[in-house]
Amino acid sequence: MQKAGQKTSYQCTDCGALAAKWSGQCADCGAWNTLQETLVSKTTMRVSRNAGNSIEIAADVVLASEPRTATGIAELDRVLGGGLVHGSVVLLGGDPGIGKSTLLIQTLASLSAGMKTLYLTGEESLQQVTLRAKRLGLAVDTLRLLSETCVEQILDTCRSDRPQALVIDSIQTLYSESLQSAPGSVSQVRECAAQLVRFAKQTQTALFLVGHVTKEGTLAGPRVLEHMVDTVLYFEGDPSSRFRVIRAVKNRFGTVNELGVFAMGERGLQQVSNPSALFLSQHSQPVPGSAIMVTRHGTRPLLVEAQALVDSSHLSNPRRVTLGLEQNRLSMLLAVLHRHAGIAMYDQDVFVNVVGGVRVSETAADLAIVCAVYSSFRDQPIQSQTAIFGEVGLAGEIRPVPFGEERLYEAGKHGFTRAILPAANAPRKHTGRLEILAAERLADVIEAL
Ligand code: TYD
Ligand code: MG
Repeated sequence: MQKAGQKTSYQCTDCGALAAKWSGQCADCGAWNTLQETLVSKTTMRVSRNAGNSIEIAADVVLASEPRTATGIAELDRVLGGGLVHGSVVLLGGDPGIGKSTLLIQTLASLSAGMKTLYLTGEESLQQVTLRAKRLGLAVDTLRLLSETCVEQILDTCRSDRPQALVIDSIQTLYSESLQSAPGSVSQVRECAAQLVRFAKQTQTALFLVGHVTKEGTLAGPRVLEHMVDTVLYFEGDPSSRFRVIRAVKNRFGTVNELGVFAMGERGLQQVSNPSALFLSQHSQPVPGSAIMVTRHGTRPLLVEAQALVDSSHLSNPRRVTLGLEQNRLSMLLAVLHRHAGIAMYDQDVFVNVVGGVRVSETAADLAIVCAVYSSFRDQPIQSQTAIFGEVGLAGEIRPVPFGEERLYEAGKHGFTRAILPAANAPRKHTGRLEILAAERLADVIEAL
């Protein structure tokens, strides 16, 4: 049903162009079947606007600390930035079957010991949810469930019931009476989310929205969802492995560098407190040709192992083979190694592999690659628990890389005791138990190895 002042129009989900009438092809970008019904009205666009705010000096703004509640699941708390903020909206995205419902039912069961919670399911029946909760051994006597898909009904219920924490599983199953399009369509998802976000902000309810991920890997429905919420979490994992990683791609109440790691087991998701094992291959003792680099993958630092094998070649053109790394980069590094450290490999085959199928494209990986190659060439392992990063310049200098502190912090967090890094990235004050080896030239590093 449309109210006065509202008007239906059609929006392309690819380019965002608006059209007054539906057609099979977007007139702007030419994509087929992308026009979706959308509601244009002043009320849908306004999340909260207070009339007549005056200008204030930042120093005079009263800073109330955000009330936070620990969810009881430490890995989740960490990703959220130290607990759940009241009135915040968290979007949890992930492939079907990855464990979103499991994680949130566990979270709510834990939260419901101290606050009033509500789990809204639009996908599964109440029996299915209860059965799972019982199987997981959760306290079901304080777990409150609701099966409903109309967002106006949900909000009516919530206004009278006043839960302090609310889970919507999933946003794609909801619909609003004000739109005619089917649940899960872009306009429905956006309208339902907008109404729920407004409710959460007005009533200081902590809100979790579950969102499915499309084949392309983005949240089904528009990216606008990501702009509407405070925190966007992605739940990822290899379906063939038990491990699941939760990471923040946006967080208004914390950093996006934290990673929460879980293992899916018989009794739901268990926390994994030492996840470095996932990305590093396990050696009982140090082996030649292996170096640990601190690279930034996406938005966060990650410890990744580089492996090199150097073997004498019988070919006139020795082989330079790389996996997870650009081949030209390796050729360049070998040239620098020859010219500035006097180590010749013109009669050697060189193979370099980045463990775990990670693709490294940033220059900060240079130094670790050089170290791995040198270590294999000399058949001498690099001292264990050493993390390495830095760019190698053509003049044989070790150039600084961005986010040096963050990389060091990541290495320290995972129990590394030694770091080889560019001199310009060396921290000014001594950092805890991490032994720092700041290098200016490649020759310094080779000498230290
Ligand atoms: P679920 O939370 O339903 O995924 P989502 O809501 O993201 O679609 O998780 C379902 C998967 O998790 C399912 O394939 C079975 C598995 N699982 C376990 O292995 N152990 C458990 O204790 C539970 C509850 C689920
Ligand atoms: Mg689910």
